[in-house]
Amino acid sequence: MAFAERIDTAISSAVRSGQASPSPAKLASALHYTVTPGGARIRPTILLSVAAACGDDKPELADAAAAALELIHCASLVHDDLPCFDDADTRRGKPAVHRAFGEPLAVLTGDSLIIMAFEVLANAAHSDPMRAVQLMKVLANRTGMPNGICAGQGWESEDQIDLSAYHRAKTGALFIAATQMGAIAAGQDGELWEELGARIGEAFQVADDLRDALYDEETLGKPVGQDDLHGRPNAVSEFGIEGAIQRMRDILSGAISSIPKCPGEAMLAKMVTAQAEALTPIKWRADRAAVPGE
Ligand code: IPE
Ligand code: IPE
Ligand code: MG
Ligand code: MG
Repeated sequence: MAFAERIDTAISSAVRSGQASPSPAKLASALHYTVTPGGARIRPTILLSVAAACGDDKPELADAAAAALELIHCASLVHDDLPCFDDADTRRGKPAVHRAFGEPLAVLTGDSLIIMAFEVLANAAHSDPMRAVQLMKVLANRTGMPNGICAGQGWESEDQIDLSAYHRAKTGALFIAATQMGAIAAGQDGELWEELGARIGEAFQVADDLRDALYDEETLGKPVGQDDLHGRPNAVSEFGIEGAIQRMRDILSGAISSIPKCPGEAMLAKMVTAQAEALTPIKWRADRAAVPGE
């Protein structure tokens, strides 16, 4: 089965169990609304790529890990869009969850999806209890305090932001979880995979800053110009467009050199190169192609 299908099947099955009756109908449909259709699913795709590179001997565990990681990501977006955070009206081209269902249900949707992520891992534990416990530990570490996305969002309430700690926790954390969980699901040592995840996460943050600066809301499916609006430090204000593109590419070539030895090393290098292409804003490429001599 292709990665995208494995990810969607695992997520749908988790959400269906969360909707079993008797359940409050609006919250049940908010769960589905949040995860379908998905976004780029980049984190679970990286997770399954790393698992495949390490032999993927327990695919059911890798699928559970991929679903759990994406559920946490989706939950974080629901909470991030709330009025008390970014107050964003749209996400993935449709009304944000609190706009569609109201704030109480958006809070509960995020909460439910976070709990569901750990339940998915617990349900898959029978295939390898030790690996499942390690997966839960990594996911918890990269979700909460002090290393996870909660910490990342928490930095926004500080008077002084430590930019690299902020980005590493807000965005890097789930990419580190992706590479580490892919390795663990396939029985490998997760520690060795932290650097690759951190580097991909750093490049992704630069790419996100570029998209925020270059695109309009319709193309992106979410509000743009947010970094400037909230006065948040970002790669474009720091390095300019060209500088940020170069920086993203440098980080990704560093990522390729940090891939640990494994049977699928060459395949992973290709995956990271493909990500570099996918992350480079099409608009920048088009603008550049229009400049004579470029
Ligand atoms: C958006 O992540 C939030 C950031 C960490 C910048 P994605 O760009 O992966 O969002 P989706 O899942 O594709 O919508
Ligand atoms: C969202 O970050 C990341 C998390 C929820 C951890 P941003 O606020 O920068 O991303 P977008 O622009 O809303 O996707
Ligand atoms: Mg935010
Ligand atoms: Mg936001």
